[in-house]
Amino acid sequence: MDSLTENLKKLNLVVPAPVADSFPEANTVDLCRNYITEQLSELAGVDKSIIFPALEWCQVLEKGDLLLPLPRLRLKGNLDEMAKDLAAKFPLGGYIDRVVPQGKFLQFYFNTQFLLKYVTKDVLTRTLDFGSAPLGNGKSVIVEFSSPNIAKPFHAGHLRSTIIGGFLSNLYERLGWKVIRMNYLGDWGKQFGVLAVGFRKYGSEAELEVNPIQHLFDVYVKINNDIKAEQEAAEAKGETLDPNNCIDGEARSFFKKMEDGDKESVALWKKFRNLSIEKYIDTYARLNIKYDVYSGESQVSDEVMKNVSKTLQEKNMITEDRGALLIDFKQLGQKKLGKVLVQKSDGTSLYITRDLGAAIERHEKYNFDKMIYVIASQQDLHTKQFFTALDMMGNKWSKDLVHVNFGMVLGMSTRKGTVVFLDDILEAVKAKMLEIMKQNSEKFAQVDDPEKVADLVGISAVMIQDMQAKRINNYEFGWDRMLSSEGDTGPYLQYAHSRLRSIQRSAAVPDEDLLNANMSIENVCGSLEKLKALNLSEEEFTKKYKLLESQIEKTQALARVMASYPDTLRYASKNYEPSTVVTYLFKLTHQFSSTYKVLRVIGEDREVMIARLALFSAVRQILHNGMILLGITPVERM
Ligand code: ARG
Repeated sequence: MDSLTENLKKLNLVVPAPVADSFPEANTVDLCRNYITEQLSELAGVDKSIIFPALEWCQVLEKGDLLLPLPRLRLKGNLDEMAKDLAAKFPLGGYIDRVVPQGKFLQFYFNTQFLLKYVTKDVLTRTLDFGSAPLGNGKSVIVEFSSPNIAKPFHAGHLRSTIIGGFLSNLYERLGWKVIRMNYLGDWGKQFGVLAVGFRKYGSEAELEVNPIQHLFDVYVKINNDIKAEQEAAEAKGETLDPNNCIDGEARSFFKKMEDGDKESVALWKKFRNLSIEKYIDTYARLNIKYDVYSGESQVSDEVMKNVSKTLQEKNMITEDRGALLIDFKQLGQKKLGKVLVQKSDGTSLYITRDLGAAIERHEKYNFDKMIYVIASQQDLHTKQFFTALDMMGNKWSKDLVHVNFGMVLGMSTRKGTVVFLDDILEAVKAKMLEIMKQNSEKFAQVDDPEKVADLVGISAVMIQDMQAKRINNYEFGWDRMLSSEGDTGPYLQYAHSRLRSIQRSAAVPDEDLLNANMSIENVCGSLEKLKALNLSEEEFTKKYKLLESQIEKTQALARVMASYPDTLRYASKNYEPSTVVTYLFKLTHQFSSTYKVLRVIGEDREVMIARLALFSAVRQILHNGMILLGITPVERM
């Protein structure tokens, strides 16, 4: 007997027939979907494959757990009447205990006795694995994210790409996909010629070793100032610069040498690249991100670039303009996509050409089922252009490419000035967080490693601020707001987690006991019978009865929120929205907080205490899993 059948048998429940693409072992909402589908299919005579996907989520608990819009069943007749009729005839029981007709909709409510018993145990048994499901088994996905440019600032666009891409990678992994995390560095182009010339003039080997990213950036800024000065001086004299005798010309010829494979030039560039990557590895580790591949614009092979040119020519996608080659999408029937240069007159390649080549190479090498590009919406046009070009070139798999875009961040600067690198942002947030923590000296003294906690909580502040709204929205970088422990912030989630940990610490119940807890609502909250048996005065009785009502209501709501975690993850993997998970975690923590107010743990009879603790331990586990998924390390104390 499989474990699902076994566990449900203990609750006197029969497993409903599984519908294709459902995951009842991993997702309790799917289990209930299967039950509804089975029953409705019989009642209404509609095929299961139509009912199952029509069962939608409800945004608010008051409206039920699942919602069925009858129009989606393609039935003929008076749908309002049909809704009433189906609701009246629907067999209630162990899975569903209420069906309410609402116009042409049916609202289904899960049986909360079942949820409380089944989900709590499921979470406590599967621990870190709770939420995962084998949706993508056997499939692979490349997630390309962050992709900063060497010697240039790591700007807000890169920060957002890092955060969102890190989350999506974790999410797909949880859902059974083989994930390849890829960083596509901006590590090729004329700027490396500029950098090389600059390094000769301003570079220091020692500084390069210590902080390559900062040093290369400094050099780059200095030499660019020189270039500007040279140009302005020439302009002032009404002269034009001699390309063979100016910095810009020197840079250009250095890059040309790189493109031609000159050993010395390539070696210098490689050194810049490798040292930068070493530093990046450490910084990304602070965000719990580890790449499988550091690729980059430089890594696209000559061979594939030649093939790209050839195919573009063969498919008649190229127009010539004064020695340069371009794709004129308008001529090719894609009005909105304009024109784009694919090869300069000196034969060198461009950003879009390298993207075409890189995609083709990746497809050959990894044979992915899906490839996600996490790039700012400022590059929407670029991305559409290269996706469309790939398609026109005859790559059928271009339909498997997804652009996950996002809006801008405004005002990301500190008192010390504009932040330029990821490290600076993280250091600034950590320092601020430490300041805030010190304000409560009593609590501060109890924290083991305040630096570490400030770092982790600070990072969670940055991350939650970034992921809490729909990704396409712009947002303002609000140092104080995001670090506040009130309102929906990263520190609030951390606070909730450490509070749950503290409840567990004070109760000190062995895991084994939690797993065997009696999770009936009568035990967790109490019952009218138990109250009556206490022989209370009328006044006392009324008071306790009110409390009991509120305990039951809140506990039921909490169980329903807990049950929907796996389904939330699946939904997020379809809309690529971190906010789906963040919103869920706030819903969970708010519901926990309001339940905990009426459901004390310490001071109750042991059986009741264990049951309540089991419930809150399960909440803690889900919160933990969700935070990890977002890339946040939950703290034990703060
Ligand atoms: N390095 C680019 C930039 O900073 C982002 C690269 C995005 N990825 C891509 N395949 N084009 O703008």
